[in-house]
Amino acid sequence: MSFDNFTYKGATFCVSVHSEEILKKVEDEFQVLDDDIFNITYPKSGTHWMSEILNLIKQNGDPTFVNSIPMWSRSPWYETIAGYDEAEKLTSPRIISSHIPYHIFSKSFFKSKAKVVYTMRNPKDVIVSMFYFSKILKIFKEPESFEAQLENFFKSNGMYGSWFDHVKGWMQMAGKDNFFYITYEELQQDLRGSVVRICKFLGKELNDEEINSVVKYSSFKVMKENKMSNLTQIPDDVLDKSKGTLMRKGVSGDWKNHFTVAQSEKFDKDYQENMKDLNIKFFWQETKKQ
Ligand code: A3P
Repeated sequence: MSFDNFTYKGATFCVSVHSEEILKKVEDEFQVLDDDIFNITYPKSGTHWMSEILNLIKQNGDPTFVNSIPMWSRSPWYETIAGYDEAEKLTSPRIISSHIPYHIFSKSFFKSKAKVVYTMRNPKDVIVSMFYFSKILKIFKEPESFEAQLENFFKSNGMYGSWFDHVKGWMQMAGKDNFFYITYEELQQDLRGSVVRICKFLGKELNDEEINSVVKYSSFKVMKENKMSNLTQIPDDVLDKSKGTLMRKGVSGDWKNHFTVAQSEKFDKDYQENMKDLNIKFFWQETKKQ
């Protein structure tokens, strides 16, 4: 595994999992199908959680599929070297995961009826989650300190580029019929209600029992134990399980245990500046609890 990065159209990628060739194919050649569903996020925003939810909805709440096929095979990250071919081979309706920035997204999507579910998370918690994940995922350089992780976030040289560009890029789709956005915090606050909203967006009618089953099998507790979802099957030279786990805490607001008051105040100022052109308020801005 190598930490070496490269830049493609302004965003950062890692030579161990990405290549310019695949990114070009994603953009220009990947044939999006009308019934494709894209699970898109900035890293550490709830990608695995939403993947589980979407796959369970697809299976009408039946957990057999998510209990038997690894997450990265059922919904591969199609912009990665390992994931591209797997995504092409999926059975329709395909659920494809990705962290791809909007400006590199597959051109054929825009001529299709395919749908995007975009999940965001309070960026302060994204930073914390990334801080810990960088210690275990070998393609990330472990930051020297939390302060260094915070600085990296604003230098925008982290994987997939700037959080701000990612969110502002994808929010250009807000209001379109085939685009649905939700926050990690809303999933936390009301998972059942969120599942109902996602089903409505997907045009999927599940009965109460089926919805309860989606909620049960996508809960933190169950996913943490599911070997097909918790990444424990990934070899140690890629993910050092002795140092941590993907399913770390699964809460909102852990940033309060990591940011100093000064760091938080500076973050809020920089956040306002970076987001001033976006006319959308997110869950974490609307409630002080977050
Ligand atoms: P923490 O590190 O804060 O615990 P991603 O899937 O985008 O890599 O994001 C990983 C984060 O989502 C981790 O956050 C992980 O614990 C959390 N997560 C994964 N599944 C979850 C679930 N079912 N419920 C709540 N949080 C979940």
